[in-house]
This record gives sequence, C-alpha cells and structure tokens, in this order.
Amino acid sequence: MALSDCCLMTLPKIEDSRGNLTFIESGRHIPFDFKRIYYLYDIPGGAERGGHAHSALKQFIVPMSGSFDIFLDDGTDSRSFHMNRSYYGLYIAPRIWREIRNFSSGAVLLVLASEFYDEADYFRSYPAFLEAVKATQK
Ligand code: TYD
Repeated sequence: MALSDCCLMTLPKIEDSRGNLTFIESGRHIPFDFKRIYYLYDIPGGAERGGHAHSALKQFIVPMSGSFDIFLDDGTDSRSFHMNRSYYGLYIAPRIWREIRNFSSGAVLLVLASEFYDEADYFRSYPAFLEAVKATQK
C-alpha cells in the first residue's frame, strides 16, 4: 500500500441551529466495513500516539474534538495531515506507519477499524516495517 491510498474524506454534515450532526455508515462513507471503534481522550500535553503500522488493518480517524497532526509514512514518501474538523476523516490503508502528535487541549480522536484488536497485526518497530514493505516491493 502507498501513501496515495490514504486520503482525507468529507463526511455528511447536517447543519442545524441546534448544532451540527455528522454520521458514518459502515462501507458507505468510508472504504471498508468496521468491526471496532475506539477513541483517545484525556491526552496529556506533549503526548505522542501511534508509532506503528498495521499489516492488514484499515482505519479511519476523525477528530471528534480539538485538533492534532497525523504523520504518515509508506517507507518511501511521508506526509502530515492537520486534523481539526469533525466532518473530515483520514483513511489510513494497511502498511502505513503513523505517528500522531500536537494534540490540542481536550482533543478526542475517534478510530473506526476494519478488524478486532489483534496485536499480531502490528509492526511496532520501524526497521521491521521497512523490511516488510521492501520485501513486498521485490
Ligand atoms: P496502541 O494501538 O499502541 O495505541 P495508539 O496507537 O493509540 O498509541 O494501543 C495501546 C494499548 O492499548 C496497547 O497495549 C494495546 C491496547 N489496545 C487494545 O487492547 N484494544 C484496542 O482496540 C486498541 C486500539 C489498543
């Protein structure tokens, strides 16, 4: 998978004087069906999350509140995304290294994931990730 497979996606937004509403339907607004939802919150100042890649997992990340930066790297190219709107989400394809940082105070990060949690799907070492990426490019 390449960085070009990852993209910012605009979600439906129902505007209302009482507040806005955004919804996500599995497989319709994002390019996979999700089996798991998790979220990061109470994130202390200066914290960094991620620092890994996945072998098969697809993810979609939405800033529910506040802002943060997502750094993506496919082993060749890298790119940062500033996430600060709850109607935008970032699709992350498998085999992409990610680091998440610069969380604002009160930030909440929602993740929709294509599979149940499986530690065996993680690359937690950057050199091991690079090796796996290069092996599939041969
Ligand atoms: P991790 O995926 O490394 O967090 P992040 O990418 O946000 O920095 O997960 C942190 C810990 O939580 C790790 O011990 C695995 C555990 N965990 C679960 O048990 N279930 C889950 O769905 C997730 C995402 C993590």
